[in-house]
Formats: sequence, structure tokens, C-alpha cells
Amino acid sequence: MKAIVYEKYGSPDVLHLADVPKPTPTDDQILIRILAVSINGSDREALIGRPAYARMGGLRKPRHPILGSDIAGVVEAVGKNITEFKPGDDVFGELPGYRNGFAEYACTHGKTLMVKPPALTFEQAAAIPQGGVIALNGIRTKGRVQAAQKVLINGAGGSAGMFAIQLAKLHGAEVTAVDNAHKLDFMRSLGANHVIDYERVDFIANGQQYDLVLDLIAHRSTVACARALRPNGTYYIVGGSTAVLLQTLFLGPFIRQRRMRVLVVPQNRKDLVAITELCEKGDVVPVIDRQYPLRETAEAMRYVISGRAQGKVVVKTTN
Ligand SMILES: NC(=O)c1ccc[n+]([C@@H]2O[C@H](COP(=O)([O-])OP(=O)(O)OC[C@H]3O[C@@H](n4cnc5c(N)ncnc54)[C@H](OP(=O)(O)O)[C@@H]3O)[C@@H](O)[C@H]2O)c1
Repeated sequence: MKAIVYEKYGSPDVLHLADVPKPTPTDDQILIRILAVSINGSDREALIGRPAYARMGGLRKPRHPILGSDIAGVVEAVGKNITEFKPGDDVFGELPGYRNGFAEYACTHGKTLMVKPPALTFEQAAAIPQGGVIALNGIRTKGRVQAAQKVLINGAGGSAGMFAIQLAKLHGAEVTAVDNAHKLDFMRSLGANHVIDYERVDFIANGQQYDLVLDLIAHRSTVACARALRPNGTYYIVGGSTAVLLQTLFLGPFIRQRRMRVLVVPQNRKDLVAITELCEKGDVVPVIDRQYPLRETAEAMRYVISGRAQGKVVVKTTN
């Protein structure tokens, strides 16, 4: 089968199209013919090998040659212990370990997949999983955002942020969205009340305080970040600098009157079902900016890294 592989960390130039063996499902796996796969921050990080946690799968070079977490496609075969899917089912979701998606086929246990609702295209479905599940946890399940609360989302123009803005608005919050200058109008179009260009304004130092900060790309010290919170406010760090993640993990519990926490979001079907229901109803929209054929995955990644994408970038295996 065709797949996009890489043997060393680097720019999108290290990605190339290759013929690799088609995977065979075990008794506990399903084989999926992938039709669409969307790009997330985790792909970008695993490509360049930064932050440090992106090298957990291989310190000097990537242990797994195929990137890609969020897929949509058709079940081609099932192992004998699989009861919840059958050949021909349209499915989508996350692949374990955030890998193996930029390919024509993948095998997985299926516990982080669900049947695709007919109302969603394969491309829309592939755009939802990782970002949607992170946002659902950060804003609803753990963040417990309520009407009239002030919420700031840092990195709000990316995969998870796109869903987080919409969810926070759905819950009646006043939303401040932070990202680069190219994404300000996009974030406004998703409902953000206020937008901040991170290259011009430091949201930690501008005197504003929030009930919840969802930081998708943290890079400031835990103590500095706490200044952005109202008393009893919560700061969730989802991704960003490894040093800040570790600092928050160990120092966070000692900061008084503010909750500083790392938000760990396991891949799971329950949350995928919940965010997908909101997408089906139209309450949340999985916005797609551009689509690329599989052979142009490096170009798709370049576009994401350029910081100009206004929504998800989706790679398709069918053209
Ligand atoms: N905690 C967990 O369990 C868990 C699970 C899965 C993934 N993650 C992590 O979640 C993070 C977010 O994922 P994602 O898919 O939403 O990433 P993404 O699509 O890459 O979005 C990140 C956004 O942040 C922007 N950004 C970069 N530097 C910034 C800064 N200094 N201030 C404000 N915004 C900045 C980026 O814009 P530019 O183009 O300008 O860089 C981009 O728009 C990743 O680090 C990923 O590894 C965590």
C-alpha cells in the first residue's frame, strides 16, 4: 500500500511517499481502508521532534515511520473477536499512539473509533477526533464552563482551539482567543468575543484575568501563568513546552487560590461520540480549510506549519 513515511525528524521535506506492506489485522483488530486523515499539532510535533515529549517514541530518530492520528474510512476486514464493527462500516476516530494514519490502510483495536454518521462527510469526520475530544474535556467535562464566565484559549486557532472556542460560546462564556495574526478573523468567525495576536500582546501581562484558561501551547512559567487567573480560577495546560508541563505538574498543586493543572486527555470513544453529536446538530462545526491528496502530504504539512490554516487541513487517499 501507499503511505507517507519519514526516517528522521525535520521539516516536511523529510516526508515521502513509499510502498509499505499492507497491515493484517489480528483477531482483536479491524482493518480500515483510510479515505481521509486530518493534521493535528501532534503530527507537527512528531515530525519535527519538538517539544521533547514528541521524541518519546524515539530519541534520535522516529521509531514509527507513519504519522497521522485522526482517520475516517471504511472497515475492510475484522478479526474474529471483533463484534462492534463489520466489513463495509463507515468509521472514524483516533488511531492509538497518534500514528499510522497517512496511509491507505491501518489496523486498530477500534476502541477509539465509532460509526460515521451519514450527515458528516469522511473529511468532516476526520477533522473531529483529537481536537474535538481535547476541547470537550477542557471546556465541558473538566473545565465546567458556565454562562458569563471569562474563558481564554491560548492556541485557539489550531485543531483543538477551533472546537474549544465554539464549545465555550455554546456554554455562554465570554471568550478570548489567542493565536497568530493570520488567524484572528478565523477565531472571530468561530464566535470569539476578543482576539489577541500572541506576537503583539502577552495575555499574561495585560492585566486581564479569567475563570478558565485552556492553554494548548503553554510556554510561560507556571507562576507567570497563574497571574492570568481570577481567584479560584483554573488553568489547564494541554500541550507546549515540556519544562512548563513538568513545572505545572509538580508546582501547580502548591499555588494557592488558583488551580494550575496539566490536562491529560486519553483517546476515548465516549467523548468522541459526545462531540460528534454536537457536530451533527450543527452546534459545533468542524471547519475544513484545505484538502490535499496523500502524495502531497508534505505540502499539507507545510501549509499547517506556515500558521495560515483557517481550520483543519485534511489529506485524502482517493485522489
Ligand atoms: N494533553 C493531552 O492529553 C494531549 C493529547 C493530544 C494532544 N495534545 C497536545 O495538544 C496541543 C495542541 O494541539 P492542537 O492539535 O490544537 O495544535 P495545533 O493545531 O498545532 O494548534 C496550536 C496553535 O497554537 C498556535 N501557537 C503557536 N505558538 C503560540 C503562542 N506562543 N501563543 C499562542 N498560540 C500559539 C499555533 O499557531 P502557529 O502556526 O503560529 O504556530 C497553532 O495555531 C499539542 O501540543 C498536542 O501535542 C495533548
